[in-house]
Amino acid sequence: MGVGTHRTPGTGSDKIKKRVPRNSQALFNLGARDIHTLFHDGRLALGDEYGNGFNSPAEEWLPQGLDNLLAAQALFPLVAQFEMAGNLAENDVIGAVHDRIDAAWPILAARVADIPAYAEHFIREKSHIDSPGDIRISDIANALGAFMNATWQRIDTPFDLYLRGDKTALNNTELRGMRLFYGEANCASCHSGMWLSDQSFHALGLPSFGPGRTRRHNLLARDLGRLAETDDIKDAYAFRTPMLRNVALTAPYGHNGAWATLEDIIRHHLDPLTMREAWTPEDAKLPLVPWLQSVDFIIQQDRIEMARQAARVPAAGPALSDAEIQSLVAFMHALTDERDDPLSLVPASVPSGLPVDRVPQQLSAVSP
Ligand code: HEC
Repeated sequence: MGVGTHRTPGTGSDKIKKRVPRNSQALFNLGARDIHTLFHDGRLALGDEYGNGFNSPAEEWLPQGLDNLLAAQALFPLVAQFEMAGNLAENDVIGAVHDRIDAAWPILAARVADIPAYAEHFIREKSHIDSPGDIRISDIANALGAFMNATWQRIDTPFDLYLRGDKTALNNTELRGMRLFYGEANCASCHSGMWLSDQSFHALGLPSFGPGRTRRHNLLARDLGRLAETDDIKDAYAFRTPMLRNVALTAPYGHNGAWATLEDIIRHHLDPLTMREAWTPEDAKLPLVPWLQSVDFIIQQDRIEMARQAARVPAAGPALSDAEIQSLVAFMHALTDERDDPLSLVPASVPSGLPVDRVPQQLSAVSP
């Protein structure tokens, strides 16, 4: 229940039974044309292995006619048990997903088509839709993708203004941070290009906790990251390099949210082993859920798994002074474009009549 840091684990029959294993990702700029890979483990990417334009968990059962990567992405929360589909026997969507994922597409499309205000919008906007029965799941996914692209584009940060020629857009500390980022601190070897991500995978050895992404034949509460997609041992514990615009607005950090501040995640990059050993559960600033506490940190007691993970922790980076680290933090803040807070777009009501969580406060940057 609730939005952002005001989310609660619920009470009574609404109590959460499990945490999701990964930190949800920021949505900024994901609709950019040169983004080809989404999710921490890259399980959705442009590609034509299955004849529909995307390499995804739905394989050849993704619908035809999806406009772009964000449209394809929009389908997955609808059919994920712990996101929107719910538990078996609770509704017909999850039952259908269990048979084969594409059995859910017409059920979901009919649910939207049955709501007159949505059907009218589709008929008005799309020349190939003349009646509610013409609405396909691809139309719905394309609408969601277009909305996310339009709403979460952010490219007017002080850094961008600087690159466009406004030499006053960055102060001296931010400039020092930028020079370190592209120079001695070597950040741009992974956070490269226009979107500050190589869209590739690297193991940083973040501290492990939470339910993990268990695998069919191995129920250890760990997250193998990219390996779960490729089954290649060199991808063990590797995660996609995040894009960094608006990163100051999206704490906590890393695929599991192990670090609550920019300073800590940067220090982790620079000396992963030391930071990993110094980490305590309080660093994650997890909302307290008393009935899950016994499983939240259980993996930390598994000495064999901890040794396996430790063996994959990368070597320390350059030794930077505290002032240099602070300038990197300042540079991260210079990647913020706070225009048009997306939360201000949350409508008071929606055509389905389902309740809308009220937004308690605006997004705001944690102080540097
Ligand atoms: C070896 C490639 C690599 C280098 C070099 C690198 N990063 Fe990262 N960075 C990553 C990856 C991969 C993640 C995500 C790790 C995870 O989730 O397990 C990440 C995460 C981050 C995050 C958290 C973003 C979020 O949304 O959670 C920040 C901030 C960050 N890096 C900044 C930096 C800075 C500053 C530097 C230079 C000091 C740097 N990175 C150097 C690969 C790299």
